[in-house]
Parts: sequence; structure tokens; C-alpha cells
Amino acid sequence: MVSAHTDSVKKEAKAGFELSVYLAERQPLVEAALDRSIPVIYPEKIYESMRYSLLAGGKRLRPILCLASCELAGGTVEMALPTACALEMIHTMSLIHDDLPAMDNDDYRRGKLTNHKVYGEDIAILAGDGLLAYSFEHVAAETKGVPADRVLRVIALLGRAVGAAGLVGGQVVDLDSEGKSDISIETLSYIHTHKTGALLEACVVSGGILAGASSEELQKMSRYAQNIGLAFQIIDDILDITATAEQLGKTAGKDLQAQKATYPSIWGLEESSRQARQLVESAKAELACFGEKAQPLQALADFITNRKH
Ligand code: FPP
Ligand code: MG
Repeated sequence: MVSAHTDSVKKEAKAGFELSVYLAERQPLVEAALDRSIPVIYPEKIYESMRYSLLAGGKRLRPILCLASCELAGGTVEMALPTACALEMIHTMSLIHDDLPAMDNDDYRRGKLTNHKVYGEDIAILAGDGLLAYSFEHVAAETKGVPADRVLRVIALLGRAVGAAGLVGGQVVDLDSEGKSDISIETLSYIHTHKTGALLEACVVSGGILAGASSEELQKMSRYAQNIGLAFQIIDDILDITATAEQLGKTAGKDLQAQKATYPSIWGLEESSRQARQLVESAKAELACFGEKAQPLQALADFITNRKH
């Protein structure tokens, strides 16, 4: 099935790039690798809880960005697959913890009950911890055909993206800002560049590092990722207002209800959409020097602004 898709991807590449075909090949590849990455052994309930959230669907945008940037810089899918899976493990654990009663207290994620609703808070906390630790082990133990110094750089990059300088820091400022509708655009930007942007940047830059990209190329990839990270968040804020719970697979209208400062609450819906489109255009322009090889990442940037959930 995957090879039939691969053939169609090659045909599409000649005829013009088609993202739906590309995603139809990449998503099952990532899905299968994630499924293989965590088998159920004793004590079963923790592995089942980790798998429940890791395999709950989702667009797999982060792993796909990592694979695409590795290929863009001349590497292969095989070189980046363990890191791609690790990035999805980190993303999943951050959502499990984000949904806990101590944080956002949410009941639904990706159209299913949240982890703590099914397994209890104690196991949900441990499932997040288990996924986080395993993500690093997975990169270190499973990356093949890549010089060790590049793997080490990727591990350091992931640590930084996840910790207080990245996701954790962004989440802290986000929690601090709850109930304050008057936070500044600088604070809002700090939250998003850390809570969402840092991991998206790590996805793209890690792919480049694994492939041996030059520092100049890595800088372009990093700027591409920062721009799509911000655009992604603006769209998220817009969808919270305009999409239904069914479309989102989680509660809609939460930001308004919590009187949260968001891009649309500061700029309005129209200006927010315009800013998102502009960020995507800047992101795509960063990769212009790579020529046709940049098509997947450029199309992914468009996909992010056109998404409906
Ligand atoms: C969703 O934001 C949450 C995140 C993107 C990350 C939250 C980060 C943490 C909980 C820190 C996790 C701990 C480690 C060690 C990484 P949201 O609530 O705005 O979006 P939502 O509507 O999808 O919940
Ligand atoms: Mg949340």
C-alpha cells in the first residue's frame, strides 16, 4: 500500500506537487511507525494509556514536517523516522498534561475522551512522563545511519524545545495569563512562540540536522518554522471562534468563555487571517532557494492556514 502511494507521489512530482497525495503516503507511514514504537508489556495499563493518546489520530503534522525537512536537506525518511515519532510522542504528552484538571481540565481531545477521563489522573500524569522519557530514548536508540554528533545535537534541541525555554515556559505564561483579557501582544507572542512554536521549530530543524544541513540552511528552516508556528496559532485562535466542536474534535469557543486574550480578540478576525496568510507567504519565501525540493514544506505551510480543524 505504501509503495503504491510512493509511486503515485513520484508521478505527482512530475505533474506538479499534490499535497493530498503526499499526506496519504506519509500519514500511514508515520502511523505504522508510531504503532510499532510502543508495544504493550507489563504493566499493561501504562502502555495502553500511552498508546491510547499516541494513536488517537491527528494530522501527524509534526512528524511529517521533520521527514520533509530531512529530505529537503538531502537526507532520507529512514534517517528521520525515529525523531519524527519522538516529536509526536512529545506533542501527545504535552496535550495529555494540558488536558488535566490542574491545567485546562478538558474532557475531549481528537474526538475521544481525554486520557485522564479514561485512565484516571494518576495514570495520565505517568503516561505523559512515560512518553516524554521514551521520546529521548527512541531517538538515541533507534536512529540509524546518522553520525552520532548529529543525533546528539537533535537530542539537545528536543530538550530545549520541551523545557522551560520552550513548551513548559510557554505553558507557564499561558496559565499565568488566564482570566486576564488585557495581556499585551508581546506576552501573547511569548506564549505562542514557546508553547507551540518551539516544538514546530524543533520538528523542522531536527530534520535538517539529521540530514547534515549547513548552518545557513538551518537558519532558513528555522525562520520558515517560526513563521508557520505563529500562523498555526493564529488559525487555532480563529477556529476556536468559527469552528464547531465536531470539526475540532474538542470543545469550541473555549477562549471566549475563558475571556482569554487571543489574536482575534486583539486584531479582529479579518486582520488575524491577513496576518496568518502573510506569515505563510514569508515562510514559503524562506525556502525559495531550495527550488522544487521545497514544495512539500511550502504546501504544508498553505495547508496550515487553510485547515478547518
Ligand atoms: C495546548 O494548548 C497545549 C500545548 C500546545 C502545550 C502545553 C504544554 C505543557 C502542558 C507542558 C507539558 C510538559 C512538558 C514536560 C513538555 P491549548 O490549551 O491552547 O490548546 P487546546 O485547545 O488544544 O488544549
Ligand atoms: Mg488546552
